[in-house]
Formats: sequence, C-alpha cells, structure tokens
Amino acid sequence: MTSISRKNIAVFASGNGSNFRAIHRAVTEEAIPGRIGLLVSNKPDCGAVTYAVNNRIRTEIINFRDYPDKHSLGRHLMSILTALPADLVVLAGFMKMIPDSVVQAYKHRILNIHPALLPRFGGKGFYGIRVHQAVIASGAKLSGATVHFVDEIYDHGPILAQAAVPVLAEDTAETLAQRVLGVEHSLYPHAVKAFCEERIFWKNNIPFIRN
Ligand code: GAR
Repeated sequence: MTSISRKNIAVFASGNGSNFRAIHRAVTEEAIPGRIGLLVSNKPDCGAVTYAVNNRIRTEIINFRDYPDKHSLGRHLMSILTALPADLVVLAGFMKMIPDSVVQAYKHRILNIHPALLPRFGGKGFYGIRVHQAVIASGAKLSGATVHFVDEIYDHGPILAQAAVPVLAEDTAETLAQRVLGVEHSLYPHAVKAFCEERIFWKNNIPFIRN
C-alpha cells in the first residue's frame, strides 16, 4: 500500500471561524491527514484570527485595499502559498474574491463552502444571512450546504459535496442559518479529509468522493 503524505492546508476566513475550527479539530484529532500551516484573513478582529492566534497557527492579515490591482494581490498570495507550500486552500467563510492568477495556479486545489444548495442561491450578493433570506422568500423546502472547487466565477466551480436541511414553516433566516451551519461542520471536514486522503476522482469534469 502506498502511504499518503500529510497535506499542507491554508485556510482563508473572514468571520466567526466555526468551519475553520471544525476542520482544525478534525486535523488535531488526526481524522484528517493534514496540517493547517496558515490562516489568511482580511479581518484582523474576526473570530477566526483569534482562534488561530490562540492555537499558534501562523496568521497573515491581508488588507485587500493595500493592493492597487488583482495582479499584485495575486502575486502576494502566491508568494505566501508557495512558501508554505500549500497543497490545499480552504475558504471557510472568506468574503473576498480570490484573484484569477491564484485560482489558475491552484486549479482543483481550492475549496469553498456555501450555505445553500448550489447552483441555486449563489453568486454575487448571496452571502451570509442574505442567502437564507432568499431561500425562505423563494418557498424552497430544502436548503443545505455545498462544498465546491473554486473557479474564476463566484460560487460556480465544480460541486464536490452537498448536504440538505429542511426549511421549516417557523424558520427565520437566522434559525435556518444555524441549522445549515451545523451541517457545514461535518460536511466540510468530510470533503477536506477526502482531498487529503486523495479520494477525489473526476468523471466528465465532475468531482466525486470515493468511499
Ligand atoms: C458559513 O455559513 C459559510 O457557508 C458562509 O459564511 C459562514 C461562515 O461561518 N460562507 C459564505 O456565505 C460564502 N459565500 P464561519 O465563519 O462560522 O465558518
């Protein structure tokens, strides 16, 4: 049997960081054969940064406005990622667009989680609580979470894994968000584990997870 090397993971997060924590927990419990070598954030005061600092995970704060164009931002991100070097980039509630140059250099190696069942309720303007407001307003009876590979278009890349949650009559956007988040905390570690264990295969340009 060939042994699989431990993958280097860079996490990008802008918010509370609960998905980051769920993945970090799975790594420290050795459920995922990886190591989180870096947290990148555009929000110095967010929960994800506090968690990284408390857990001695290297943290890079990037003020996107410091970069005059996406080429210089892309070069800076690439220098950070190649120095690690990162095998996988995990966007966990990261609210900025990744420059095309990084997406191309890391093709099929950047994952994102979205709090709805893509391809519905994704794209520009669909982030945070707005996603759940739109789901409720649509009358959809199912929502959920989607893990997908990142391409150059927002919330568009190949879908790797999904989990559904019911939309209930008494739901508010906040209660639905909480229920979806609960599902994200098992779906995302499951997808990252599959990547690190090299269990993802492609068929007709669509990724699947081998058991
Ligand atoms: C999660 O629900 C994630 O799916 C969503 O932000 C939340 C981050 O929570 N991401 C997006 O809306 C991206 N378009 P967390 O910081 O507690 O992981």
